[in-house]
Amino acid sequence: MAELKVMREEYLPPKAPPRRHLLSVADLTRDDVERLLGTARSFERSLEREMKKLPTLRGRLVLNLFFESSTRTSSSFELAAKRLSADTMSFKASGSSVDKGESLKDTAITLGAYDPDVIVIRHAEIGAPQLVARWTDAHVVNAGDGKHQHPTQALLDLYTLHEEFGRIDGLHVAIVGDVLHSRVARSNIQALTMMGARVTLVGPPSLIPRGIETLGCETTIDIDAIKAADVVYVLRMQRERMLEGANYVPSLREYAARWGVTPDRLRPGQKVMHPGPMNRGVEIDPVVADAADALIETQVRAGLVTRMAVLYDLLTHGPVAVQNAAEIHEVA
Ligand code: NCD
Repeated sequence: MAELKVMREEYLPPKAPPRRHLLSVADLTRDDVERLLGTARSFERSLEREMKKLPTLRGRLVLNLFFESSTRTSSSFELAAKRLSADTMSFKASGSSVDKGESLKDTAITLGAYDPDVIVIRHAEIGAPQLVARWTDAHVVNAGDGKHQHPTQALLDLYTLHEEFGRIDGLHVAIVGDVLHSRVARSNIQALTMMGARVTLVGPPSLIPRGIETLGCETTIDIDAIKAADVVYVLRMQRERMLEGANYVPSLREYAARWGVTPDRLRPGQKVMHPGPMNRGVEIDPVVADAADALIETQVRAGLVTRMAVLYDLLTHGPVAVQNAAEIHEVA
């Protein structure tokens, strides 16, 4: 019996290295984050040149599967892949066979037949990216699954903060608004605390999940608490994820009056971030959104280089990536 077991083990093919995915901030260590931000920085420098395209991922296929609406995330993944010379295929659920009732599994298997190297997926169901990682041979990047995770948003926010302050460690970030329905908040709380920032969640009690402090953050319902932070990170009221008939706030007008981020609630020089899309006049006053201290456009630009770094890192296996990025920067 023991002999048979040994024989079986001998006949097993050598183990292939595990495929790397980015499904959650929990997949990343502090070293991973630092490496990714470093790679993003070298890509940022490469974009300053007239010739913006790098040959790095030539011949690779990046498939963008968006089952939920998106402006910033889908456009930046598409441009990131193009800037690295990969082929891209972008699939939006509306107008596809999903409208005819095709399941996620059939869609993933059908498009997986083109052998994509990376699948970037956004889906309303929590865990959809994990399933696609199981059904296909591609590296999978979660571009947002329900209210669960949005890891590349957290990375681009860390990149933005690091560019602005030169550090993340010791920064105090107040996240304001609809935390309950926000994958951005969940990913950012994890990422910011991992990198040594202090996080305070601010909003109506109905929109701050009970027990979220276990992630290492503080909570308060007092909007004046945002004055103490270095950065105020504003969240949209995500009505499309709210349960029908549930009254989280009496009205949007009431919400804006009590928790809207307005000029008088901020300290001069305080930086403001928002993942977009913004609802001006609800969670953020238009004056705040357009002020010089708003980092909102910087976040969008950071989204491009950060997603380039993620695609590159997944396809070139970790620490080596940093070296290669520098080399490519020199030769391209
Ligand atoms: C966020 C998202 O989709 O989770 N937006 C984004 O990716 N830029 C936040 C939101 O929709 O409010």
